[in-house]
Amino acid sequence: MRSNQPQTIYLSDYKVPAYLVDHVDLRFELFEHGARVHSILTVRRNPQSDDVGAPLVLDGDRLVLESLALNGTPLDGDQYEDRGDQLVIADVPEQFQLSVVTWIEPQNNTRLEGLYKSSGMFCTQCEAEGFRCITFFPDRPDVMARFRTRIEADRSAYPVLLSNGNDIDRGDLPDGRHFVTWEDPFPKPCYLFALVAGDLVEKRDSFRTRSGRDIDLRMYVEPRNADKCAHALDSLKRAMRWDEEVYGREYDLDIFMIVAVDDFNMGAMENKGLNIFNSSCVLASQDTATDAAYQRIEAIVAHEYFHNWSGNRVTCRDWFQLSLKEGFTVFRDSQFSADMGSATVKRIEDVTLLRTAQFAEDAGPMAHPVRPSSYIEISNFYTLTIYEKGAEVVRMLHNLLGPELFRKGSDLYFERHDGQAVTTDDFVRAMEDASGRDLSQFRLWYEQAGTPVLTVRDEFDADRGVYRLTVEQTLPDTPGQTDKKPHHIPFALGLLDRRGQPLPLRLADDDTEAPTERMLELTERAHTFEFHGLAECPVPSLLRNFSAPVRLNYPWTREQLLFLMSHDPDGFNRWDAGQRLAVDVIQSLVGAPRDTQVEPRLVTAYRHLICDASLDQALVAKMLQLPSEAYLIELADEADVPAIHQARERVLKHLAISLRDELVACYRRNAQDSAYDLSPLAIARRSLRNTALAWLLAINDEEGRALAVRQFRDADNMTDRIGALRALVNSDYEDDRNQALASFYQRYQDDPQVVEQWFSVQAASDRAGQLPQIRALLTHPAFDWKNPNKVRAVVGAFAGQNLAAFHQVDGSGYDFLAEQVCRLDDSNPQIAARLVTPLTRWRKFAPAYRERMRAALERIRDKPSLSRDVYEVVHKSLAG
Ligand code: PHE
Ligand code: ZN
Repeated sequence: MRSNQPQTIYLSDYKVPAYLVDHVDLRFELFEHGARVHSILTVRRNPQSDDVGAPLVLDGDRLVLESLALNGTPLDGDQYEDRGDQLVIADVPEQFQLSVVTWIEPQNNTRLEGLYKSSGMFCTQCEAEGFRCITFFPDRPDVMARFRTRIEADRSAYPVLLSNGNDIDRGDLPDGRHFVTWEDPFPKPCYLFALVAGDLVEKRDSFRTRSGRDIDLRMYVEPRNADKCAHALDSLKRAMRWDEEVYGREYDLDIFMIVAVDDFNMGAMENKGLNIFNSSCVLASQDTATDAAYQRIEAIVAHEYFHNWSGNRVTCRDWFQLSLKEGFTVFRDSQFSADMGSATVKRIEDVTLLRTAQFAEDAGPMAHPVRPSSYIEISNFYTLTIYEKGAEVVRMLHNLLGPELFRKGSDLYFERHDGQAVTTDDFVRAMEDASGRDLSQFRLWYEQAGTPVLTVRDEFDADRGVYRLTVEQTLPDTPGQTDKKPHHIPFALGLLDRRGQPLPLRLADDDTEAPTERMLELTERAHTFEFHGLAECPVPSLLRNFSAPVRLNYPWTREQLLFLMSHDPDGFNRWDAGQRLAVDVIQSLVGAPRDTQVEPRLVTAYRHLICDASLDQALVAKMLQLPSEAYLIELADEADVPAIHQARERVLKHLAISLRDELVACYRRNAQDSAYDLSPLAIARRSLRNTALAWLLAINDEEGRALAVRQFRDADNMTDRIGALRALVNSDYEDDRNQALASFYQRYQDDPQVVEQWFSVQAASDRAGQLPQIRALLTHPAFDWKNPNKVRAVVGAFAGQNLAAFHQVDGSGYDFLAEQVCRLDDSNPQIAARLVTPLTRWRKFAPAYRERMRAALERIRDKPSLSRDVYEVVHKSLAG
């Protein structure tokens, strides 16, 4: 029986499994009307378990049990209990073989968990708890088994049959069917199991490891995508080389496979030897993928590949430890991306995501520690906190230990725990043992939720030449957590003299060899640091390269920010100073009288950025991006979205009008003058010319309009084509907008990944994406409720990016979202739960909005038979 009220799972209830599975023998019979799964489990009692008389309990979800046998003898109905979500066998020997046959219906699986069909092919998604939708099994990551998998299907409809490991046998069967058998020599948890069957083309490549083994690389896609594989395969080879060089990790199987599927809940999945990707995160061609997509693909291919060690060879003991693999792997992929392109730009992008979305999550009702202590539905915990904050926590270890000791720690971790299912604590202990450092206080980063706030004050003692810096840390309360302890925080800083020269940081009078940058360590609620031997009051450059995931308060003057924008040797802090200045200027205009002046020094600073071609163009391209509305909302106490939107628009238009000629010159200077390439400089130049275009169209500039129309027509790559389209869509030139949208659709209607971009350009635009237009997009023939990417491109982009349109004071945007969540809840609860996110932040908004957001949440709450996924998000959001 499943009770109505979803149960909470607690970390403190963790017990080792009573039974272990050493081997799994699977046989899949795939048909159009369903699939039969034959499973033979080799089971033994776990010697580590003190639960001696425990029954065998297997998880199952929506399975039809066809037969059950123990050591070859069929079990009678009274020898087991089928509880729907669990199969319980009370009386089992110390060791035995259990044979289970189940029937499932992949063709009707809209949740996209377990075995399902996507564009005619069969595929699987088992993380976190999808394997139980395929067969009865102890579906928990600390049960690791060797898998052998035989797949049988119609030969002409499914010529390609894939699973984990190596193919060891294949052949024909009667009735036009065939089979392939795969064997994976590495024990793995069932969440890493995968199967694919389809009519796919294969792209082959190879990689020689540093120990001289040749690995077969294979990518499988639908025939129409055959020309979009090169970038993923190249990225894969770069990632394989990088992991050898930087972490000393080699690939372990003989084959590595990547498959692209159109219907996928997440970005991609690291199944052992058989990574499965959302098409939008792996397929690319010059004509269809933007620079951002190319970079995303490189990062995700690397991320999934890196999981082979951080996640697969060493896996999680339980799902509370999710950040053990995700935080570490995100850190690894961000180091990789930094090495492949501009490290400063990569850091800016990561911190932007963290400060905009993870800080918001950490300040809201769903806030949870990097290692949570309870959950209702684990699918809800694939969060920015687990991934991005988890990566920041690993980065802080890297900052505290330095690269050599960190590498010693990761070597020890992989060596000590290879083949095991472990905890975040084991990870920290390896770092501790390798470095000799005491990380007991550092462990609080895994246990305490909420973003620490650092408040910095300073004073200069001119007589003694001493500059005194006081740093205080506080931690906000979060659901279920109050009165927190101070964190161990690496705090990087430098000091600049009035000409912008870095000053030596002498912590004592006699400190003669002092460095110009230090990684200070904060452990107390307040610290005071004294810097000696200074002739004048310096300008501090604080939290360089964002050395810890904290909010930093310091009473910068606009003068100091302008100074840091052009002088800070730390590229990240140069960008950050610009952001802080822009935030300050925009905030001062929120709700201000129409004739309030826009800070003229902001215009001067931007003019300098646009015109000085000697500056690092990749950094300039980032510095020109004004802080997003989402970030401004995150920084506000009681956000009034229309007022924030207007203030930001005012600043943007003021800049565009004041710098109109400079923008046209910038556009022309950065026009494409050679063949398309993906170097950081080429990407920066495309970004600059598209920003110039967007700004010119924001002020209805006729020359800008002509440039946009021409660029839209003549572009030889998607970044420029969609850049021009976006600029036109966001302009007042309604005819140009409609024409461009129609011709874009006409050209790309057969390419789902491009149609997704076409949807989201509209849904994210306050010109083309007001509610009636959004509703129209939902009835467009290319829209498909069963495809998560389409739902995200329209509903997700509207509620998450088109903020002024979503936050209508009559609540219509919220009601719309509630309606779509309820509609999706039955077919795909994971996607439904994710769509609720914008409403969970209801307490952040001005009262009129807040109440209507809450009402929308209550409407969702009252839907009959709510999924556990949406139940958890909605109830936690409304609580307290
Ligand atoms: N483990 C995947 C990743 O981060 C994400 C994922 C989770 C995919 C759950 C599907 C389901 O690499
Ligand atoms: Zn991952």
